[in-house]
Amino acid sequence: MGNFFPRWTNWLPLQIAIAVVMIGAGTTVGLTYYFTPKYTKVGYEPTQPVPFSHKIHVGEVGLDCRICHSFVEVSAHANVPTNQTCYNCHGPDRGQIKKDSEKLAMVREAEKTGVTIQWTKVHKAPDYVYFNHSAHVNRGVSCQSCHGQVNEMEVVRHAEPQSMSWCLDCHRAPEKKLRPLEQITNLTYKPGDLDRTAFYAKLGFKGAQLEESVARATKQYGVNVTQEEVGLQIKDHWRIAPSESCTTCHR
Ligand code: HEC
Ligand code: HEC
Ligand code: HEC
Ligand code: HEC
Ligand code: HEC
Repeated sequence: MGNFFPRWTNWLPLQIAIAVVMIGAGTTVGLTYYFTPKYTKVGYEPTQPVPFSHKIHVGEVGLDCRICHSFVEVSAHANVPTNQTCYNCHGPDRGQIKKDSEKLAMVREAEKTGVTIQWTKVHKAPDYVYFNHSAHVNRGVSCQSCHGQVNEMEVVRHAEPQSMSWCLDCHRAPEKKLRPLEQITNLTYKPGDLDRTAFYAKLGFKGAQLEESVARATKQYGVNVTQEEVGLQIKDHWRIAPSESCTTCHR
């Protein structure tokens, strides 16, 4: 079966639909909330040209995400690393880790030929959606909230739906997810592991005010720091207010 219509006709109705809905919608997010199915992409797990494992490199070796995804804090788009990054550890004339491994043949080859390894994309927002990594990871949203437990994945897969309703769920209640900036790439983070005094000090509390805040929080939340506490404090102190307006994500 061929296509009955040229490619552009697939694309046009959606843009018109978005334009029409946006003109008419005003603030009726409620309606469009149900447009996008919630769980369509979860589980999508393509085969990659090199059997690269996050479970080994993050979970076992303990590498930070930003060694490889170096633009994630400074740019709208995250990047995958160049072959140079891999070769520094795996090259026979460099780090020599598993230097003879069959699985790394393509990495050695790419170093010689300069041909880049074509990783298959796992996550891709539609073209009509604006997304920005740095706007999230510099405001207390962890990779984990959107990509799941990557440190345990042999092969990266879609762990979250990344649908419109999913984006909006967090934009409406970010306090459920916010964490201190130094914990953004720590995928084994638990709020209970935080030192309460250090947490409040980082938020800017000092002296008697710091002691009071810590005492009050201990009374309210118990000995261990909780997500509710961390989320609400960060939201309040950094004035975090994710937008729900259509033009934030559809420009
Ligand atoms: C040693 C380098 C390295 C480190 C460290 C690393 N990654 Fe990756 N990452 C890669 C490579 C290479 C790919 C592309 C191949 C793949 O999908 O497995 C990738 C792919 C991904 C993808 C899928 C990208 C897409 O196509 O949608 C996500 C999400 C991701 N990494 C998140 C993380 C997170 C979160 C961390 C830290 C907890 C991390 N990575 C640490 C090298 C790395
Ligand atoms: C900081 C050093 C470091 C970097 C950077 C790094 N790796 Fe690794 N890699 C390791 C270590 C350590 C192991 C585990 C070796 C072992 O099991 O003894 C490993 C294992 C592997 C293996 C399994 C090899 C085998 O035979 O079992 C593959 C494949 C691999 N890495 C690919 C990559 C790719 C692709 C990149 C770049 C995206 C990369 N690595 C970047 C350190 C690194
Ligand atoms: C608020 C949700 C969110 C957070 C937080 C987030 N990501 Fe993403 N990530 C996405 C979305 C959505 C895409 C698809 C973006 C696109 O197609 O433009 C994506 C794509 C990626 C890609 C693929 C980039 C490419 O062009 O192939 C990588 C790699 C990645 N993310 C890594 C990370 C890392 C590492 C972190 C944490 C430091 C992180 N992400 C935090 C939602 C998020
Ligand atoms: C886990 C929580 C969470 C999820 C999921 C999430 N966001 Fe956000 N988003 C935030 C927070 C927090 C901010 C920062 C708000 C602030 O700075 O006041 C933000 C800000 C933004 C901004 C504003 C960036 C700018 O340039 O000002 C855009 C655009 C955006 N998000 C798009 C998306 C899209 C698209 C998705 C889904 C693919 C998404 N977000 C999913 C929490 C989230
Ligand atoms: C926080 C970001 C965000 C906001 C705010 C947002 N959207 Fe979306 N929207 C998305 C994402 C992400 C998708 C793509 C979902 C997917 O790929 O499943 C989408 C998809 C759509 C679609 C296509 C529906 C479909 O079936 O694929 C329409 C229409 C739409 N949005 C209209 C709106 C309107 C109208 C508003 C304002 C009331 C709005 N959006 C606000 C993120 C957002």
